[in-house]
Amino acid sequence: MDADDMGSDLAEVLVTAEQIAARLREMAAEVDRDYAGRDLLLVGVLKGAVMVMADFARELHGSAPMDWMAVSSYGSGTKSSGVVRILKDLEADVTGRDVLIVEDIIDSGLTLSWLVANLRSRGAASVEVLTLLRKPTAAKVDVDVRYVGFDIPNAFVVGYGLDFGERYRNLPFVGTLSPHVYAS
Ligand code: IMP
Ligand code: MG
Repeated sequence: MDADDMGSDLAEVLVTAEQIAARLREMAAEVDRDYAGRDLLLVGVLKGAVMVMADFARELHGSAPMDWMAVSSYGSGTKSSGVVRILKDLEADVTGRDVLIVEDIIDSGLTLSWLVANLRSRGAASVEVLTLLRKPTAAKVDVDVRYVGFDIPNAFVVGYGLDFGERYRNLPFVGTLSPHVYAS
């Protein structure tokens, strides 16, 4: 799916496929450097982080095992509450390992802050976070995000893993939707 397929549903492209690819390559070089000689485990958060993980992991020179978690946060309506339920847990034992959580976007950061605490409590040697996108609202949470791809404005975005009602995850870029999409 690309911009042509979106027609008038697409408002604006915020981050192009080329910008994403170039940034993930830079971030992979940083991670390769920082984790040289360590026991790195990549933990992707389903489903949004699938594209980021696929492209980021392939840019790494080290062979980093990957595992996945699916979580849902209880909340009223669209607000994330910070109370989290595990829908799918890790298969790997994180004890003594250097965990890098791979995320698509950090908005309120509530889910992520729970996840970091949860993985630390399981005895991981270290827990760091890599995210492709970060919104200004993320500044309110005290999660230290080690690797950030792009700081974006406080708008609802879709594409490259991010959805609106499960749609648009398969766009190769990150963009915003026209108002009429939300109205329908
Ligand atoms: P949180 O508010 O940081 O806990 O965000 C939790 C999740 O909400 C993210 O991992 C995304 O899956 C989703 N999310 C937040 N902002 C957006 C957005 O702009 N578009 C699509 N999904 C989003
Ligand atoms: Mg997510």
